[in-house]
Amino acid sequence: MHLLKLKAINGFKDILPDEVILWQHIENISRDIFHRFGLQEIRLPIIEETELFARSIGQATDIVEKEMYTFADKGITLRPEATASLLRAFIEHGMHVQQPVNRLYTIGPMFRHERPQKGRLRQFHQVNAEVIGAVEPQVDAEIMAMGQLLLTELGLKASLEANSLGCPECRPPFRKKLVNYLEQLSGQLCSDCQRRTHANPLRVLDCKNPRCSELVQDAPSILECLCTECSEHFAQVQACLDLLGVQYSVNKFMVRGLDYYTRTTFEFIAHNLGAQSAVGAGGRYDGLIEDLGGPKLPGIGFAMGIERLVLLMRERNDDDLGLQQKTDVFVAALGEEAAKHGFLLVHTLRQSGIKAAMDYSGRSLKAQMKQAGRLNSRYTLIIGENELERNTGVLRNMENREQEDFTLEDGPASWGNRLKHIIEKKVSL
Ligand code: HAM
Repeated sequence: MHLLKLKAINGFKDILPDEVILWQHIENISRDIFHRFGLQEIRLPIIEETELFARSIGQATDIVEKEMYTFADKGITLRPEATASLLRAFIEHGMHVQQPVNRLYTIGPMFRHERPQKGRLRQFHQVNAEVIGAVEPQVDAEIMAMGQLLLTELGLKASLEANSLGCPECRPPFRKKLVNYLEQLSGQLCSDCQRRTHANPLRVLDCKNPRCSELVQDAPSILECLCTECSEHFAQVQACLDLLGVQYSVNKFMVRGLDYYTRTTFEFIAHNLGAQSAVGAGGRYDGLIEDLGGPKLPGIGFAMGIERLVLLMRERNDDDLGLQQKTDVFVAALGEEAAKHGFLLVHTLRQSGIKAAMDYSGRSLKAQMKQAGRLNSRYTLIIGENELERNTGVLRNMENREQEDFTLEDGPASWGNRLKHIIEKKVSL
């Protein structure tokens, strides 16, 4: 019989324990930073009504046009991003009634049917932060500074690029100007951009095709078309970034692939990631909450791709950062009677908060010591037949190989605490 070899689907990836260490580190640092900035966690479903994404991300975007995993018969879609879901929850639970400004974050998987490549998956993960209800430019700068701090605390470098996309007042005249300009180039643009010229002209500005990017160098700039309020807002955002000492550059060609943005948009670009160089991105969406049927409130946020953060951490070649999971004590027992004591000992140690391990297969001391090494054990407690007669075990420090007797006389209830005391004392020395 021919047995089918089962594999994960293309673009969907298993994250094995060695790599999970990096993921946990990223998640821990993200949570810590988000809490420092007063954000609270919100957990959301990974499936929503398709209409939510069509209305927020935009009908003419690549994401909605061709990248969504939709169950057409049910009218539902695996979320391609978290902002829309978060705002749906925000509106549904009337969260604005509790407090004028809501600061929220969420961490989890997203799904986009893109062509998989380095740093681009079909199931990927984001840490995602949003501040809802504040229009002040300080918040824009604070959010970007928070992203920058996250990268710094992970030991990573990326450059911050910022732009302003204006508002419903200044964007339409700009769009018109841009379409006029693009129409003149029409024959020379790539086929995607020819189609985008009317469907989504702003996207032409960040086409990756070298010919297109050359052709748009002289295109009208959104920054020259901003209304007074938007222009002032962006100037203040920049002044705030300067005040905080956040390095950034203005990129007038940055337009983002989601339609909900207004005013400030930004991306963190890591130049050693290859084609998928954006490690994080975000911006303001001042009209979106109202468009989704909620109160008239502004919002701003960003998301970082965890897979891309992991790639950058791996590239530094100091993978484990001392993060490897360690065992405190490995109990090596020799003989049946010792194994019985060991079995009870391991459980008592675990009850007292010690990471303890044991091998039950009755292997030789040498094999057990090898196993202790594999588990990165800091100590091994050896219980042999001779030791058992004296009611003691031998506690060996695996780093400096020093050994000391460990009495088993006082019974299991006190073993854990005593061992914990020894280990902690050694650590603090
Ligand atoms: P986005 O630019 O679509 O924005 O995605 C943000 C980040 O998610 C990207 O910079 C990248 O690191 C990661 N990412 C996106 N697609 C993939 C993929 N296929 N594979 C791996 N990583 C990927 C948003 O999603 C917005 N919701 C961000 C936001 C929040 N704006 C305001 N609030």
